[in-house]
Amino acid sequence: MKLIFLGPPGAGKGTLAARAVSILAVPHISTGNIFRAAIAARSPLGLKVKGILDSGALVDDESTIGLVRERLARADAQGGYILDGFPRTIPQAEALAAFSAVDRVVNFDIPDAAVLERLGGRRTCRNCGTNFHILFTRPQREGICDSCGGELYTREDDREGAIQKRLGVYREQTAPLIAFYRTRGLLVDVDARPAVDKVVENFTKALGL
Ligand code: AP5
Repeated sequence: MKLIFLGPPGAGKGTLAARAVSILAVPHISTGNIFRAAIAARSPLGLKVKGILDSGALVDDESTIGLVRERLARADAQGGYILDGFPRTIPQAEALAAFSAVDRVVNFDIPDAAVLERLGGRRTCRNCGTNFHILFTRPQREGICDSCGGELYTREDDREGAIQKRLGVYREQTAPLIAFYRTRGLLVDVDARPAVDKVVENFTKALGL
C-alpha cells in the first residue's frame, strides 16, 4: 500500500508511521529524517538545509522532490511505502503524482494546543531518530533511547518560536493539500488526539486493515 501521512507538525505522523510499518511491511520514508541525517553527516545537502530546518521554514521544492523521486525508485519502495512529511506543498503533490500513484492519504487531525504540548515535550534520539515525550511516551532511562541507547535531545525546531513558524507554514502551504486530495477521493481523516494505541486503532479501522 502506498500511503501519505499528512498533518500539522507534531500530529504524531512519525510515531504512527513507526507502528504502521510493522502492520503494512513497507518502508517509512520521512523527508524530515532524511534531512536530519544529512545534517548529522555534514553532507553538502545537510549544510544547505540546516538553517532552514532550524528556523521551521521549508526546503525548496526542487531539492525535496528530487530526493523523494530517487528514494521511491529504490527496490524496497516498489511494493508500497509510507511517505511522512512529503508532499508539503501543491507543487510537490503535483510532482509526486507524475512519478508515483498513491493509494490513500491519511490526514491526522489535531488542534494547535495539542501540537504545542506534543512538540514542547518531544525528545528525539540523536542516533536512530525515535521520538519520546517527557509526559506521554517516556523513555525507560532519562535521556536515553529505549531502542538503541542513543542520547535524547530537543530538536532546534521544537523551540517555541520555530513551532509557531512551522504551524504558520503548515496553514499556508500544506493544509491546502487536504482539499487537493479530498477532491481526488484519496483522503482518509484520522482523529490524532487520543493516546497512541487508540490512534493506531483509528488508523487501521479507517483503512480497513
Ligand atoms: P518533519 O520532521 O517532517 O517535521 P513535521 O512534519 O513538522 O513533523 P514532526 O516530526 O515535527 O511531527 P510528527 O507529526 O512526526 O509527530 P511525532 O510523531 O514526532 O520536518 C522537519 C523539517 O524538515 C520541516 O520543518 C522542513 O524544514 C523540512 N522538510 C521536511 N519535509 C519537507 C518537505 N516535504 N518539503 C520541504 N521541507 C521539508 O510526535 C510528536 C510528539 O508527540 C512526540 O514526542 C511523540 O512521542 C508524541 N506523540 C505522538 N503521538 C502521540 C499521541 N497519540 N499521544 C500523545 N503523544 C503523542
